[in-house]
Amino acid sequence: FNLAVLISGNGSNLQALIDACASSALPNTRITHVISNRKAAYGLERAKKASIPTSYHNLVPYKKKHAETLDGAQVARAEYDADLAKIVLNLDPRPDVIVCAGWMHIVTPDFLNPIAEADIKIINLHPALPGEFAGAGAIERAWQAFQKGDIKRTGVMIHEVIAEVDAGKAIVTQEVPLREGESLEDLEQRIHGIEHELIVEGTRRTLATIKR
Ligand code: GRF
Repeated sequence: FNLAVLISGNGSNLQALIDACASSALPNTRITHVISNRKAAYGLERAKKASIPTSYHNLVPYKKKHAETLDGAQVARAEYDADLAKIVLNLDPRPDVIVCAGWMHIVTPDFLNPIAEADIKIINLHPALPGEFAGAGAIERAWQAFQKGDIKRTGVMIHEVIAEVDAGKAIVTQEVPLREGESLEDLEQRIHGIEHELIVEGTRRTLATIKR
């Protein structure tokens, strides 16, 4: 199977997938392309070290082109996403699954629709449980809710990607109990460790649904 991985940052989840493809955790599976929306994403270095082709897909030129357009931000995002779909659809070999691993954009139908038409699955990692703390900064918001006594646990999920942020059907979830006195940094470390397990398990389950 072929995976394309979308990243924006450190790429520790990408690294977990690279390692899983190298071991027997994801048999007969390789990452054939990594796309980042940030040039400085360390995940691009991880891809290069693993001899995985990379693309940098930058939103800025689209924003500049539409700076004077009414609703320019939406138009720019639509064109950006349509081109992102073209990048993916032009990959050879085409990916069976796209894994959003710390991809900090909300994908729009301009990306999702062409990908769905090509029968390519898209999954996303989100460090919260279904319906909780959607969007960025989920771990910190859960930690703050715990300090206020509002929750006792948070979690991590891999879910199918739809146009609404972090809202697609969950593929695999894991609860993470919160601990009195634990710092946000320590919680983040604990959660990232669970992300690295779930990103592999979520990819494995998704691949298992593909009929060759
Ligand atoms: C995850 O918590 C993800 O949800 C957030 O950043 C972390 C991914 O980091 N966007 P990495 O780039 O995979 O290390």
